[in-house]
Amino acid sequence: MLYNEPSPLEVRVLSRRFGLPNSASIDTYLATDGYKALRKALEMKPEEIIEEVKTSNLRGRGGAGFSTGMKWSFVPRTSPKPKYIVVNADESEPVTCKDRVLIENDPHQLIEGMLIAALAADAHAGYIYIRGEYRYLIDILDTAIAEAYQHGYLGKNILGTSFSFDAYTHTGAGAYECGEESALLESLEGKRGIPRIRPPFPAVVGAFQCPTVLNNVETYCAAPAIIRDGGAAFAALGVPKAGGTKLTCLTGHVNKPGVYELPLGFSVDKMINEVGGGIRGGKKLKAFIPGGSSCPVLTAAECEGLTMDYDAMAKRKTMLGSGGVVIMDEDTCMVKVALRIMRFYAHESCGWCIPCREGTSWLRKTLVRFHDGMGQRDDIGLIGDLAKNMLGRTFCPLGDAAALPTISIVEKWAAEFEAHLNGRPCPYENVSQLVMA
Ligand SMILES: Cc1cc2nc3c(=O)[nH]c(=O)nc-3n(C[C@H](O)[C@H](O)[C@H](O)COP(=O)(O)O)c2cc1C
Repeated sequence: MLYNEPSPLEVRVLSRRFGLPNSASIDTYLATDGYKALRKALEMKPEEIIEEVKTSNLRGRGGAGFSTGMKWSFVPRTSPKPKYIVVNADESEPVTCKDRVLIENDPHQLIEGMLIAALAADAHAGYIYIRGEYRYLIDILDTAIAEAYQHGYLGKNILGTSFSFDAYTHTGAGAYECGEESALLESLEGKRGIPRIRPPFPAVVGAFQCPTVLNNVETYCAAPAIIRDGGAAFAALGVPKAGGTKLTCLTGHVNKPGVYELPLGFSVDKMINEVGGGIRGGKKLKAFIPGGSSCPVLTAAECEGLTMDYDAMAKRKTMLGSGGVVIMDEDTCMVKVALRIMRFYAHESCGWCIPCREGTSWLRKTLVRFHDGMGQRDDIGLIGDLAKNMLGRTFCPLGDAAALPTISIVEKWAAEFEAHLNGRPCPYENVSQLVMA
């Protein structure tokens, strides 16, 4: 199922089968080059697969943007321990909804990506860790896995070779923290989902204390195209240090919200005005979130000349993140945005690290008070200080994820905090339609 009309400006590599009749079935997959890359990978040495992925400049699509080829090369293939493939399908970053459409429309692409990673890492079993709220997708995945077994793409001696691989779905229970890779592994092992101390990283000590390749759904989904068409062709779609396309979840005050596959390096202005059909009601852009609620928020001026890629975002002191874009128009109350974001983090903090557990809940309380017109001038500085004190002081980046958007909002829109002082009602109360209500 498609949730939006495709845009003619898209470059559809991972989404090439979206909208085809029965796009999730193995018949459609096989009729459209499906499992061709696996056949090619079965003829390749593990190091050749890894080299091709390095050439593609694929960077992890789960948020951090780490080089996938490098990550795969860290797995000690000669270790006597079993190795595992783990798919992060928790998709819990607010605004992000691209893994969902990838699984719904093309689950075999994900399975083929897992198989390619397994050949690279000498793994023989893999788990798709999927959030509990995606119940309907678990059925789609289980059907696709059963089809792949029936056609000899999973199980023993795949396509008559000595390579064997089993794939399983594993359901999470809707905890944001379980999208963080080490908490995910704890949860997969049946324990409470709290982060592990790193190093060692999952490539060396991952699932069940064994070497593990752990990537996002979209990252694995890129592997078949990379092996089929070559790493260089994938790299050429993007920018020098980041190859390929990115599924972008365009949300907020645009006329045509949706999930669009855009080449890395795509202009932000073009994305809003041409792909997204401009801002609703002809309003002006006020604020921009490039990649999920964990990213520092940009002003309209900071979006000028900006492109959707990792380095361009880093230069503006924000992140490409998971591709969850939020467009906010001139009527948006930024105090309310900060509050809405902090409500989420305070609710989702796993409670393991004190700065995150206490910091998020104090920030939420302070922001509620502020938005209700009961803030004091000193609170403006206090919000920034509280957030800054969380940075880098937790086992996992959830604390940073909560702090970074807050710091950016309180620093860039301090005047809006001033406007809420002394019992004054929110100046936007009657016009604002909060995008993440
Ligand atoms: C609190 C938190 C939540 C996260 N949630 C997700 C998620 O839902 N999906 C995801 O792929 N990565 C998520 N990540 C990032 C993962 O820890 C990890 O970096 C990623 O799965 C690695 O895959 P990649 O290299 O393909 O991006 C989260 C990180 C944090 C700190």
